[in-house]
Amino acid sequence: MLIRIAKASDPASSEITPRSVYLDRRTFMAGTAGFATLTLGGCKPKAATSSGPGTNAKLADVKEGYRKLGSADTLTTYDAVTSYNNFYEFGTDKEDPAKEAHRLKPRPWTVKVDGLCNKPGTIDFDDLIKPHALEERIFRLRCVEGWSMVIPWVGFSLGDLLKGFEPQGSAKFVQFETLVRPAEMIGQKDAFSLKWPYVEGLRMDEAMNPLATVAVGLYGEVLPNQNGAPIRVVLPWKYGFKSAKSIVRISFVEKQPENTWKVMQSREYGFYSNVNPSVDHPRWSQKTERRIGDFRRRDTLMFNGYEEEVASLYAGMDLKKNF
Ligand code: MTE
Repeated sequence: MLIRIAKASDPASSEITPRSVYLDRRTFMAGTAGFATLTLGGCKPKAATSSGPGTNAKLADVKEGYRKLGSADTLTTYDAVTSYNNFYEFGTDKEDPAKEAHRLKPRPWTVKVDGLCNKPGTIDFDDLIKPHALEERIFRLRCVEGWSMVIPWVGFSLGDLLKGFEPQGSAKFVQFETLVRPAEMIGQKDAFSLKWPYVEGLRMDEAMNPLATVAVGLYGEVLPNQNGAPIRVVLPWKYGFKSAKSIVRISFVEKQPENTWKVMQSREYGFYSNVNPSVDHPRWSQKTERRIGDFRRRDTLMFNGYEEEVASLYAGMDLKKNF
């Protein structure tokens, strides 16, 4: 993702090139006239050199969880998963989070739970996850920019977490809010970046779907800062920007909440943001994707290949209008 000046005449692009991305950002920084817009763009990852885990603490007692993969799916290397990231709080380039996220202090960490539930409060991270058995859940992650990965997350069901707060019947949506701490998140000092805090939301039935995941680790280890330490959500059937990182607040609400990318550019990014190869981004096709580590593009699958698990959530909805 990056900030660029979009011109009305911009061609829809099916391939996002690093050079144009770089030039676009420079154009924006130079303050060239035009209307500013935030958009998602891409650049090539560093060549991954190893596939093993890193040096973070190992997570104990991790059971085998969801792992339905296609024959063409192989795990993306640990190096690529942790060095090619979107986390604007640390900068807009893919390499920035790995370079800058060491400043983030993921402990002590509390999550505020509020809104339409019977058990609101401010809960310490350890108490929040203690009641939940950890599982390894392997999911494809498809970014709206047109790249994808396969990541072995460690976590548990988001629905189980939310049920513990006893949401009320009037709670139709849940909103997630990310940390604001510019001293540790240097991207938050960038006046031309996103509005902070980064917020995201789901309809309650989406949040209760068994695939909706709270992640606290990957590759058997504690979640690296650049991947959203200490706690994030993972929603494998949606474009990656729905999966908010470093969550500090969970709110149960009646009305559809705001989500950052839709606020920044509502013509280009929606609330539902389900992976859908037949709904193009206004400036590029979503029909194919580049799996990080692969050379050739591959077809993008409806709901990122999780149609069987989630399609019923959207029965009767026009997914072209409700993107
Ligand atoms: N969460 C926050 N707080 N800030 C962000 O910039 N980027 C999103 C999502 N969650 C983002 C975020 C986007 S666009 C993607 S594709 C995924 O995180 C990337 O997750 P990863 O870096 O762990 O692969």
